[in-house]
Amino acid sequence: TSMTLQSTTDNSFIKKLQTSGRSLVVFYGSQTGTGEEFAGRLAKEGAKFRLKGMVADPEECDMEELVNLKTIPNSLAVFAMATYGEGDPTDNAMEFYEWLKNGDADLTGLNYAVFGLGNKTYEHYNEVAIYVDKRLEELGATRVYELGLGDDDGNIEDDFITWKDKFWPAVCEFFHIESTGEDVSMRQYRMEEYDEPPERIFTGEMARLHSLKNQRPPFDAKNPYLAPIQENRELHKHGDRSCMHIELNIEGSKIRYDSGDHVAIYPINNQKLVEQLGTLCGKDLNTIFSLINTDEESSKKHPFPCPCSYRTALSHYVDITQNPRTHVLKELAEYCSDPADKEKLKLMSSTSAEGKALYHKWVIEDNRNIVHILEDVPSCKPALDHLCELMPRLQPRYYSISSSPKIHPTSIHVTAVLVEYTTPTGRLNKGVATTYLRDKKPQPESENPVVPIFVRKSQFRLPTKHQTPIIMIGPGTGLAPFRGFIQERDHAKNEGKEVGETILYFGCRKRSEDFIYEEELVEYEKKGLLKMYCAFSRDQPQKVYVSHLLEQQADEVWRLIGEHSAHLYICGDAKTMATDVRNVILKIFQEKGKMTEPEAQAYLKKMETQKRFSADVWS
Ligand code: FAD
Ligand code: 2AM
Repeated sequence: TSMTLQSTTDNSFIKKLQTSGRSLVVFYGSQTGTGEEFAGRLAKEGAKFRLKGMVADPEECDMEELVNLKTIPNSLAVFAMATYGEGDPTDNAMEFYEWLKNGDADLTGLNYAVFGLGNKTYEHYNEVAIYVDKRLEELGATRVYELGLGDDDGNIEDDFITWKDKFWPAVCEFFHIESTGEDVSMRQYRMEEYDEPPERIFTGEMARLHSLKNQRPPFDAKNPYLAPIQENRELHKHGDRSCMHIELNIEGSKIRYDSGDHVAIYPINNQKLVEQLGTLCGKDLNTIFSLINTDEESSKKHPFPCPCSYRTALSHYVDITQNPRTHVLKELAEYCSDPADKEKLKLMSSTSAEGKALYHKWVIEDNRNIVHILEDVPSCKPALDHLCELMPRLQPRYYSISSSPKIHPTSIHVTAVLVEYTTPTGRLNKGVATTYLRDKKPQPESENPVVPIFVRKSQFRLPTKHQTPIIMIGPGTGLAPFRGFIQERDHAKNEGKEVGETILYFGCRKRSEDFIYEEELVEYEKKGLLKMYCAFSRDQPQKVYVSHLLEQQADEVWRLIGEHSAHLYICGDAKTMATDVRNVILKIFQEKGKMTEPEAQAYLKKMETQKRFSADVWS
């Protein structure tokens, strides 16, 4: 039919390259947009070397065409691939990844390079990019430049520009081409402003116009549900930090969830920051505008739903609190009327040692966002539509659901710590989503405030049998999914089912301050459902952590895991806690299970494949 014909031609990246006279294609595996952003920068820079480039989403392409890319002279495929969770590719790269893994295409003559986006705090650091780079070579393709690895826990921008700086000369040498010497500052989108307001104006929707007014299931990332907040209370008893218990009402939404799933929330940027940015750019935020892709072949017509007002774009669609990346500073430099300001921004966007150091100090360490930068570089007056093009998309924030659908089928509970801190330049930075949530409190006599949400399924699951013992390790907000697990086991027990040992290792600073859900947990303990070990790190001179308590209970931990096939769970901080706990567990396996270190590693790995060990960690 004409439908399928249409879609097959649309999926042909080779055809697109040919008809537009391009030879460089940059594929991305991206979940939060950084991979896509890096891909865009590479494709754009190709022009400097007369390698006209385009960005492509592997999900929208017929990737088997890679075997034919060699038919285009001087062609090059670059892959910007992110790794997620347990070494997984991003959703949009899943099919391509499987094809590479299971297929045996002959990729002889395909020229390629790979840059990976990963995070060193996670165990499977950059596994996807490492595999893609290796596998392409195995299938006969030619590596034009060595694999680059970016670490989001360090400075991924620095990793990327350092790699890029060597990548381009390698490409030139490979194809015997030279730089045109021109610094390309091409815009990907052209701006259109409207005198007469158009009929269709987006006001924060993710895809369909008016989808937030005319709510229609099924709800997902593109069509979030506006969930009323029916409860929003403080969990900390004392101290100057805040942790919120939030209940989202999902009655009538047809949304289902399981204990261990994540709920995503789309936040709105701080309105004060939005107004400041409008003022700094000298723009009336009520103006309606569109950004329209100058590449008519691209499947991405707009960077975000257009037309909309500048206020909507800055509030809902672009991230204005991140530290801007170097290519943004480079574009900003062009808007400075003071030559000294211009030089400074140019320097910071360069790859010289001095430039990198200044960028690191002035932007990253001093933690400046775009508003701070424009305040501190007063002669810089960028066009606001250009900024909207350059800033990354505002991402939804994920939370481990802290309730069980068995007890709460019509609500989803969230346990979130408020992010608020002072930067080295003395500014108060506020977390986008947690600040947004803090101000959404139900008031008597008025309708409950609503937030756009969707549920993301996870692999974090209770054992199928209630009799199976479980050990849960979750200090701080790491407790969240375990509250759901405990509710579920309690429900089973109340129904007369036999429930295995349910053990929780919890940690917080002080019993009297941040022992969240203390009353509930103590109640479960009294009922004989739960056994709890608590590490109050700051209640005595020396630090006591959950990892210390695990060491003390080594016999019990091994008895349950080694002899009774208990399931083991870790949730919370990925940076230090998860690694420390893992190491203690490995030590217990060695000491109590009489294993060597490699045997202990293999044992934990096996538990992981059998779904007896899972981690739900974030940084
Ligand atoms: P943002 O505006 O995103 O700001 C956070 C950023 O600010 C940090 O990444 C860091 O770069 C910076 N920052 C924060 N503190 C400081 C500081 N002191 N100094 C300098 N810089 C700082 N969070 C929960 O509270 N509960 C949960 O159950 C939970 N579950 C999660 C599950 C998953 C799968 C994932 C990925 C994350 C989870 N998170 C959870 C984290 C959550 O998604 C958000 O990242 C968190 O709430 C902060 O969001 P925000 O928009 O308020 O802050
Ligand atoms: P601290 O802040 O006193 O160092 C929840 O955040 C709890 O986890 C706090 O009591 C915190 O202690 C503790 N914590 C910090 N680092 C940890 C680690 N590496 N392992 C286990 N717990 C840790």
